[in-house]
Amino acid sequence: MIAAFACADAPRSAVPSAPPVVSENDVLLRAKGIAKILGGRTILDDVSLTMRPGDIKVLIGPSGAGKSTFLQCLNYLLPPDRGEIWLEGRLVHGSNTAELCGLRQAVGMIFQDFNLFDHLSAVDNVALALRKVRRYGKDQARERSLKELERVGLASRAGLYPAQLSGGQKQRVAIARALAMDPKILLLDEPTSALDPELVGEVLAVIRDLAANGMPMIMATHQMDFARSLATEVLFMEGGRIIEQDSPAVLLAPGARTRTGDFCGKLANLRPADAEGEMDGVAPDRGVGG
Ligand SMILES: Nc1ncnc2c1ncn2[C@@H]1O[C@H](COP(=O)(O)OP(=O)(O)O)[C@@H](O)[C@H]1O
Ligand SMILES: [Mg+2]
Repeated sequence: MIAAFACADAPRSAVPSAPPVVSENDVLLRAKGIAKILGGRTILDDVSLTMRPGDIKVLIGPSGAGKSTFLQCLNYLLPPDRGEIWLEGRLVHGSNTAELCGLRQAVGMIFQDFNLFDHLSAVDNVALALRKVRRYGKDQARERSLKELERVGLASRAGLYPAQLSGGQKQRVAIARALAMDPKILLLDEPTSALDPELVGEVLAVIRDLAANGMPMIMATHQMDFARSLATEVLFMEGGRIIEQDSPAVLLAPGARTRTGDFCGKLANLRPADAEGEMDGVAPDRGVGG
């Protein structure tokens, strides 16, 4: 980063440095008062969020809480009915195609069901957006795509089609495709919940690796081990609102009387026989605790 290089040459002062000021300058993405109405119902009601470098936010809450709708509003896959999205200090205008393209490149999305093109090989799935959106030439797009597939451990599967890949491999291709856009933030909507339990680990390993390398992310998940170990903040959604918001250490402290702790207790108590259904409004990710 340029600022870091500038600091490296600055003279050292004997005066103790002041505590860091929380500045607007380092805000990557800000959602202010997002509301969304679908089918005549208020699905999101005044939801706000701020993402700074290094933030790993985990969205949890019962099925129907509005998690997917909120993630889609954040990069305008669903235009909010009220509220504002700010990208790096600039208000995104939904009517401006160039601004929307910029937002969608900067804020990558990973879906539960992968959203790959079945008629394209893994490498071509990754290369497509590089060619269409970033105007890469054919060879350049292929080279970059192979690099991204290597990053998610799939270099040897580049020529295979989605039907020839496991669910975990398909999700890793989808992650490679998102990374090829050089996103500043990744949104992940229950990325492991469509996977058989034995495939959850390989996808979480890739996500952990991205987090360790500083990729800011917002992830809807019921993988509470992930939330506990990596989240800088847990946001609990219910009825279209964020009703609790704090570090996992606070919200999930043993004995904490929080809605989040209560919900996670129910997830932990799910027996395998419950795992396909819903219990008390809890729709589990498959592989909870994995
Ligand atoms: N296109 C739509 N039309 C009407 N209602 C919708 C539509 N999409 C989602 N909903 C409703 O919005 C609510 C929130 O959905 P969603 O964001 O998918 O929740 P979550 O991801 O937390 O399970 C649900 O009650 C769902 O039925
Ligand atoms: Mg959802």
